[in-house]
Amino acid sequence: MTKIKVTERVRNIEYAIRDVIVYAKHIAKTGKKIYYLNIGDPVAFDFDTPAHIKQALREAVESGENAYSPSEGLPELRQAIAQKEKRINNVNISAENVIVTTGISEGIQMVMAALIDVGDEILLPGPTYPPYISYAKFFGGKPITYETVEENGWQPNIDDLRKKISKKTRGIVIINPNNPCGALYEEKIVKQILNLAGEYDLPVLSDEIYDQIIYEKRFVSTAYLAKDVPVIGLNGFSKAHLMTGWRLGYLYFHDSNDELQELKQCIEKEARIRLCANTPVQKAAVTALNGPQDHVKELVGKLRQRRDLAWKRLNEIEGISCTKPEGAFYVFPRVSGTGFSDVEFAENLLKKAKVAVVPGSAFGSSGRGHVRCSYATSRDKIMEALNRIESFMSGKARAVFY
Ligand SMILES: Cc1ncc(COP(=O)(O)O)c(C=O)c1O
Repeated sequence: MTKIKVTERVRNIEYAIRDVIVYAKHIAKTGKKIYYLNIGDPVAFDFDTPAHIKQALREAVESGENAYSPSEGLPELRQAIAQKEKRINNVNISAENVIVTTGISEGIQMVMAALIDVGDEILLPGPTYPPYISYAKFFGGKPITYETVEENGWQPNIDDLRKKISKKTRGIVIINPNNPCGALYEEKIVKQILNLAGEYDLPVLSDEIYDQIIYEKRFVSTAYLAKDVPVIGLNGFSKAHLMTGWRLGYLYFHDSNDELQELKQCIEKEARIRLCANTPVQKAAVTALNGPQDHVKELVGKLRQRRDLAWKRLNEIEGISCTKPEGAFYVFPRVSGTGFSDVEFAENLLKKAKVAVVPGSAFGSSGRGHVRCSYATSRDKIMEALNRIESFMSGKARAVFY
């Protein structure tokens, strides 16, 4: 049989966060219980989509909202998104400047497709959420990471960012609060990034999917701080509204000088070729934004306790240290003191203690020496996973084997 040729660009796609799952499933088949700290999905554990949002979805389906909808999104949802951005983040955008997508993931793909030609560069925080790297490469671009400083709570290093700007740079990505580090960027740092972007006429892409999952400090949206620098905001319903599997997100264009007009028109064309986002889910998303918001508070309250637990316990384990996350639901401990590389640590921990974490190098080379643990799982499971990490490090698991 002839082998069907596959393109290089697709053969080279990597997504190490999900690769871990393949290996874990392999072990799970042997009947062993796995403790999953690798998954950034609260709905997969003891959180669920709020009842009133589920009800809105059922009603949408029953009342016949099952046809294709406008490619840019349902007008009432675009309106609700513009209002949410004003209410929560103090960002002024009109509904016409919002495009509804199938999760931020599709938004990343659309923006990268419109911004990046072969050889172009995009600046990403290092470590970074991997799809930004993958899509930049997919479109023939070069992902370039700017440093974020662990000792400074993983805040971006502005001098390094300046050094990384070249004639080929097409934009600066901010992920705030950050995945995988859990950092919440200081207002002055975001302003400095915006100033740099203004100086070099670059747009800022601001991923704010965790905008409502913050603990002690206040989140400030990039678009709120941007005066005349064009900002493309990326956000969605997966995390704060516990709708991960429903796949809905959005892009918005905050652009006082109309510099993003052509880019927006091109992204609208991309939106048209994929017809539309899921219509009944868009209806339910209007309820998610305009209905009761108690679920957000409850989610953040529980996550905060789990953050405290995970952060404290990890720091008590010899060889492991981690900065305190201020948002999202990840801790990014340094494991280089254990004598293992991050990949060895993750592999051995899975094999011997049956705890799945993601090696930091999955988030780019600057993530080396760390692992990402999600604390979106239940408190009991976090406790057990931490006990196992502790025994693994004290050498017991090497002999005992769970
Ligand atoms: C920073 C960041 N952006 C985007 C996404 C994906 O969002 P969505 O579910 O809307 O595609 C994630 C998911 O973990 C994320 O951490």
